[in-house]
Amino acid sequence: MQNLDKNGVVELNGQATVTLDTRELKPGFGVEIMNVDLASADEETLKAIIDTFHRNGVMLIRNQHLTPDELSAFTASFGELESNILKQFTVPDHPEIYILSNKVVDGKPIGAHFDGVTWHTDATYLERPAMTTLLYGIEVPPEEGDTLIADAVGAFNALPMETKTKIDGLQVLHSYRYFTETREYGRRQLTEQEKLDTPDVVHPLIRKHPVDGRKALFLSTGAMQRVLGMPDEEGRALIKKLADFVTQDRFIYRHKWQVGDILMWDDRCTVHRATFYDDKKYTRVMYRLWVKGDRPF
Ligand code: OGA
Ligand code: MN
Repeated sequence: MQNLDKNGVVELNGQATVTLDTRELKPGFGVEIMNVDLASADEETLKAIIDTFHRNGVMLIRNQHLTPDELSAFTASFGELESNILKQFTVPDHPEIYILSNKVVDGKPIGAHFDGVTWHTDATYLERPAMTTLLYGIEVPPEEGDTLIADAVGAFNALPMETKTKIDGLQVLHSYRYFTETREYGRRQLTEQEKLDTPDVVHPLIRKHPVDGRKALFLSTGAMQRVLGMPDEEGRALIKKLADFVTQDRFIYRHKWQVGDILMWDDRCTVHRATFYDDKKYTRVMYRLWVKGDRPF
C-alpha cells in the first residue's frame, strides 16, 4: 500500500521512501516544493510531486531549467496533454506548448497577449475542461504580470449555508463562442468551422474533486453564458456575486514570477487570472501546457 500526506511523504509498506522539502504558499492553500531539479528527478520523486499536486490546489517549483521536450515530458506525467484550439502561438515542433507574450519578432507577435486577465478557469467551454495548467516563466517583468489563483474549495466552504442551498444542483451553459465574441482582449467573431468545432456545453456550478470529493465553485467568468432555468440577468448577477466572493484577498495566492518558475494549478478547484503589466517597458514570455481533464460532476 502506498500512502501520502499533504506534504509529499511517500510511504511504501509503512516506510517513507521520498520526503519532499515543502512549504505552504499561503496558510491552508498551495504548496512550494523546494530543492528539486525536474530535469534529473527520479521516478519516486516524480510520483511524490504528482501526489502532492493533487492534494494542494497550486504547486510552485522554482529554479528549473527545462528544454521544451523535458517540460512536455514532465507535464505528461500528470496525464494526457491537451492541444490548444488556436495553433498560431505554439513553440516550433511543440503544438502542446502555447506561448503567452507581448513580444513581437520579425513583425509578428510570438504569443497571445493579455490572454487571461479576467477571472477564469481554463477551457471550461470543452466537455472535458483542462485538469491542470502549467506555466513556465521564460521572461518575466520585474513588476506586475503576476498570476492570481483563488481557492475555490475554501471559498465554497465559506459560503453562507443559505447560498449553498440556493446554488446546489444548478447547471451553467459555457460557450467558446460567447467567450471569444465578448472578451475584452482579443475579441473576434468565430468562423463557421470554429462554431461547429466548439459546441456549447453544460457544467455544474459546484463540482466535486475526483480525487477526494471536496466541493468547489466552478467558475469561469468569460465563458459562462447563462444559468439554466434562470433569466439571463439573474444568472449573470449570481455568477458575478459568486466570482466576487471567491476572489476576495483571503482566498487568493498572488504569484510573483521569477525566471525558471514552474507554477501549476488544479483547474478542478481553483479560479485564476493574470494581472496587467507595463507592456511597453517590459517583456513577458510564459510557456503554458494543459493536461486533459474529465467531465465535471
Ligand atoms: C492563461 C492564463 C495566466 C498568466 O493563459 O490561461 O490564465 O499569468 N494565464 O499569464
Ligand atoms: Mn488561464
